[in-house]
Amino acid sequence: MGDHGAVDPHVRDATADDVAAITDIYNQVVATSDAIWRDEPVTVADRQAWFAAQQATGMPALVAVDAGGAVVGFASFVQFRTIPGYFPSVEHTIHVADGHRGQGVGGRLLDALVERAVAMGKAVMIAGADGGNLGSIRFHERAGFREVARLPGVGRKHGRPVDLVLLQRDLPAPPDAPDGSRP
Ligand SMILES: CC(C)(COP(=O)(O)OP(=O)(O)OC[C@H]1O[C@@H](n2cnc3c(N)ncnc32)[C@H](O)[C@@H]1OP(=O)(O)O)[C@@H](O)C(=O)NCCC(=O)NCCS
Repeated sequence: MGDHGAVDPHVRDATADDVAAITDIYNQVVATSDAIWRDEPVTVADRQAWFAAQQATGMPALVAVDAGGAVVGFASFVQFRTIPGYFPSVEHTIHVADGHRGQGVGGRLLDALVERAVAMGKAVMIAGADGGNLGSIRFHERAGFREVARLPGVGRKHGRPVDLVLLQRDLPAPPDAPDGSRP
């Protein structure tokens, strides 16, 4: 991502205290876009379970916080499929609150996710975007992802068939990794 200038919002690990704000942003995206294929809002308890799972599996949950301490975006990744051979690949999610988009917040969150993935020895990051979410597809392409698959009609949003676009970015080996040590 380019240099977006300001220090804030800054990115840090989420804590349990952030889960309510994460839930608000998540539900805003559910209600106003096709980016998340759910028709109904989720409860804070649902996102608490998500947060606990991220912690239990050692996977990141990050928030972007503005100068006033408000959470304006969040990001995470999980294993892309769970059988052992998929170890090198993770699938990430980024959501920025309405009113804070287009200001570099998503880019900063993505940079932080890439840093974590590299440090964990991951080799591939995958984004799954709604086929109509041209903003997200463009966002990922600007960050070095390329479309590798398009799965027509694999989901539903409000009963309508929706397409999944998979975008992939290959990561460098961690700086301290001996040659060939990465999976
Ligand atoms: C997609 C999203 C995460 C991008 O975050 P953001 O903070 O708005 O993006 P940034 O301001 O960091 O933009 C980074 C780059 O992507 C490009 N970009 C971002 N949104 C874009 C859009 N809607 N259309 C075209 N380009 C876009 C910017 O031009 C920028 O490029 P640059 O760094 O070369 O200037 C955010 O807009 C969002 O949460 N949208 C709603 C939910 C969603 O779609 N989530 C993604 C699900 S896969």
